[in-house]
Amino acid sequence: MKSNLKPLIRLGNTTPKECDVTPEAFFLNRRQFIRSALAAGLFSSPIAALADFNFSPNSTYRPNLKLTDSEHALNYNNFYELGTDKSDPPRYADRLITDNWQVRIEGECAKPQTFDMDDLLAFDQEERIYRFRCVEGWSMVVPWIGFPLSKLLDKVEPTSKAKYVEFISILDRENLPGQRFDILNWPYREGLRMDEAMHPLTLMTTGLYGKPLQNQNGAPIRLIVPWKYGFKSAKSIVTIRLTDKQPVSSWMAAAPSEYGFYSNVNPDVSHPRWSQAKERPLGSFFKQKTLLFNGYADEVASLYKGMDLKKNY
Ligand code: MTE
Repeated sequence: MKSNLKPLIRLGNTTPKECDVTPEAFFLNRRQFIRSALAAGLFSSPIAALADFNFSPNSTYRPNLKLTDSEHALNYNNFYELGTDKSDPPRYADRLITDNWQVRIEGECAKPQTFDMDDLLAFDQEERIYRFRCVEGWSMVVPWIGFPLSKLLDKVEPTSKAKYVEFISILDRENLPGQRFDILNWPYREGLRMDEAMHPLTLMTTGLYGKPLQNQNGAPIRLIVPWKYGFKSAKSIVTIRLTDKQPVSSWMAAAPSEYGFYSNVNPDVSHPRWSQAKERPLGSFFKQKTLLFNGYADEVASLYKGMDLKKNY
């Protein structure tokens, strides 16, 4: 399927340079190297931590829905840091370097802190099956693994001034092929209102389909906000900032007339260039109706009581 997001961005020269195209042999050698290094026990902390990746299913989030085949979720991706084609993120996945990853939480909080992956994997990891709806009109049902963002934010003790939360993804122009072009205003940024961030459905995500996150899905840690369009779910997060002002997300900055701050899934609010009434589940030929708040209205509609959802899109 063609990307709907792509045409609106102000592309520079996006023809990959020769140096952007890594020969397959290089990848194979690198993989072989990683395999042998693992066997020889060369890697320490982050990969070792991921090797004992433990989680348990959360029975509250086991809807009777057909899971999307993992082959689609792992190979049909939006991760512009690795390229704008759906096949670029898995193809260039090795360019995302996740060693010694840290997430800094700062801003309006009493105890700003930096967490490494061992700290983040120490939270009880739960598996939750969520619907996921991309603004482009495709959808999937994925067993994600992670923990509620609220548990992490509680650790830093947000102050009463913390009204919003900004999420900032990795910036690594040297290694990430997409960041050599001004496709978006890098690093990728997203934001939530504080009550949305603290909502029990909002998941800091470390895995999918029983395994640690693959690089193309936003390793080693990303956000999943299942009642909002997929672009709100920032990947490979390095900074979380509590603020008193509504953050400007990368997509709001790139196309203010097309992308608002809330971006709640809503079949009645069309994108300026296409309808949002239906979606195509990945792996299916047929479309199905899109649900208000992506099917999570019972859980989240109260967050938007009294708000005009057509204006606050
Ligand atoms: N996060 C970052 N950092 N960069 C991106 O390009 N794309 C978003 C979102 N998070 C994106 C991102 C979009 S448009 C979607 S639909 C989802 O990631 C896709 O997640 P998936 O590839 O795991 O399905």
